[in-house]
Amino acid sequence: MTNHSIVAHDLTYTYGNLTAVDHVSFEVGEGEILGYLGPNGAGKSTTVKMLTGQIRPKAGKATLLGMDIAHETNKVQQQIGVAFETTNLYEQMSAVENLKLFADLFGVKADAQLLLEKVGLGNRGKERVGNFSKGMKQRLMVARALVNHPRILFLDEPTEGLDPVSAESIRNLIREARDGGTTIFLTTHDMYEADKLSDRVAFINQGKIMALDTPYKLKQQYGKRQLKVEIENGDGQIESREIMLDNTDTGDIVKGLLDGKKVITVHSEEATLEDIFIQITGRGLAG
Ligand SMILES: Nc1ncnc2c1ncn2[C@@H]1O[C@H](COP(=O)(O)OP(=O)(O)OP(=O)(O)O)[C@@H](O)[C@H]1O
Ligand SMILES: [Mg+2]
Repeated sequence: MTNHSIVAHDLTYTYGNLTAVDHVSFEVGEGEILGYLGPNGAGKSTTVKMLTGQIRPKAGKATLLGMDIAHETNKVQQQIGVAFETTNLYEQMSAVENLKLFADLFGVKADAQLLLEKVGLGNRGKERVGNFSKGMKQRLMVARALVNHPRILFLDEPTEGLDPVSAESIRNLIREARDGGTTIFLTTHDMYEADKLSDRVAFINQGKIMALDTPYKLKQQYGKRQLKVEIENGDGQIESREIMLDNTDTGDIVKGLLDGKKVITVHSEEATLEDIFIQITGRGLAG
């Protein structure tokens, strides 16, 4: 049996009449990165709150590292790291002080300097966090989530609003953690990031998981296979044509183009996760 770090079974949460998370089930293997994707209001944060013991499921249960989060909340929380919209930093304290305080809460020793270097804040450790930019605070939250050497890391939009270099350094940190055996539950709106980082991705919409698989398999399943051909039309103009690969007349069309006109470029096009996202949810990222 493979080791599952997270097992969600029929996880359900309601706010009044609204079912925010609706009988969601999935497993995340040890050392796996699961991308959890969905439009605004889909139920991603509510799922994370249940998984991390911030709220109790109304039905179903979540097992982390073999323990029921609702029953062994403290024990589980010792072994997980959370960088989440609701996790607050102490603004009047320095970055180093924030990390040390958090380490004390866990009863562990933290190499604050090393953690800060990992998130690109190596030379800002003594500054008041209140003076940090949004992106710097976000990076500090990721560093803080690593303080207790967590076996599972929950990251809610970890690179949102970061400049490209900072975002890439956070992604590298995530990969490094994964390679060290940490399991990662990642919510993001960045489809490129989800594709590059995730071993598997789940698409959630209106509280339900609509698809869950590797990015590769999802693209195979949902993607249309097509060729994009650029031809010179005879008048010195370049035209672009899209040819579906699975139609019966595909061969004739391609042959006709190659015989009659001057083909300049041919590219095969695969679906992106964003295409699939829109297909599954019936709407764009904005909700
Ligand atoms: N505290 C709350 N009280 C009432 N309704 C809530 C509360 N928190 C969330 N909801 C509702 O639950 C649904 C799911 O919200 P949730 O925050 O889990 O979405 P999300 O997928 O994280 O969205 P986003 O991408 O915007 O972060 C939404 O319809 C939201 O309005
Ligand atoms: Mg959210």
